[in-house]
Amino acid sequence: MKKKIMPLIAGNWKMNGDAGSFLEVEVIKDRLAAQEINADVAICPPATLLHRISVALHESLAKTGAQNCHAQANGAYTGDISVPMISEAGGSYVIVGHSERRGAYNESDSDVRAKAVAALEGGIIPIVCCGESLDIRESGKAIDVVITQIINSCPDFSAEQSIVVAYEPIWAIGTGKTASVADVDEMHNAIRNALTKRFGDPGTTIKILYGGSVKPSNAKELLSVENVNGALVGGASLKADDFLGIIEAA
Ligand code: PGA
Repeated sequence: MKKKIMPLIAGNWKMNGDAGSFLEVEVIKDRLAAQEINADVAICPPATLLHRISVALHESLAKTGAQNCHAQANGAYTGDISVPMISEAGGSYVIVGHSERRGAYNESDSDVRAKAVAALEGGIIPIVCCGESLDIRESGKAIDVVITQIINSCPDFSAEQSIVVAYEPIWAIGTGKTASVADVDEMHNAIRNALTKRFGDPGTTIKILYGGSVKPSNAKELLSVENVNGALVGGASLKADDFLGIIEAA
C-alpha cells in the first residue's frame, strides 16, 4: 500500500530578498495560521536574512533553511557558513548540491555528500538536489545520470534523521519550462526505486521534491504525480501570493 508522505513546499530565494521581503514573510505567516495546510513549508532565504526570518516565523508552521553549507563546522573558509551557524540562526533545512552550485562552483557528488553528512550531524535536514542538463535529457541518459547523482550524493542516515531529495531538471529552472507529467512520473518512480534499493524501508518515505518553474498554475498537476512529495520553488517563492498558491495546491 502507498505510504502517506507529508509534502514539503520549500522556497529557494537564491540571491534575492531584502528588508522589504519581510512583508511577504508576514503575509505567508498570517495566511498559514488562518487555514488548514496539508504540507510542511520552508523558506530558504539568503544567509544574511536567515536569522531574522527564522525569528519572524517563530511558532509558524513555516520553517527556514539555508541554501548551502560548508562540510566543516568552523575554520579558515572565507565566505562560507557552517551547519552549526545555520542551526544557531534558526534554520531547520539546508539545500545542498543545487545545480547552480554544482555548475558555478564545480561541486561534485562527493562534495555534496560531505555537506549532507555535516547537515545530518548538526541536526539539520539536507535537501539534496539532482537533475540533468538538456543535452543529457536529449541523449536519453537522464535517468541514469540522475540516479548516479543521487546514489553518490545522499549519505546514510539513522532512524532519528531524515533527508529530502529534490529533482530539478536544469533546463526547467527559471526558464518557465516544466518537465511533462509523464517525464516527472518516470523520473520520480526511478528515484523512489533507487532510494528504496539503497536505504531499504526508510527509502520508501524520503520526500522527493520536484523543482523547475513550479508555479500556482502547474502545482496541482505536478504535486498529484505519485512520487512527487513536494516542490522546490525558486522564482515563485518570492511573492507570498504565488508561494501560498503552491502550498495550497499540496
Ligand atoms: P525556479 O527555480 O522555480 O525559479 O525554476 C527552482 C530552483 O532552482 O530551485
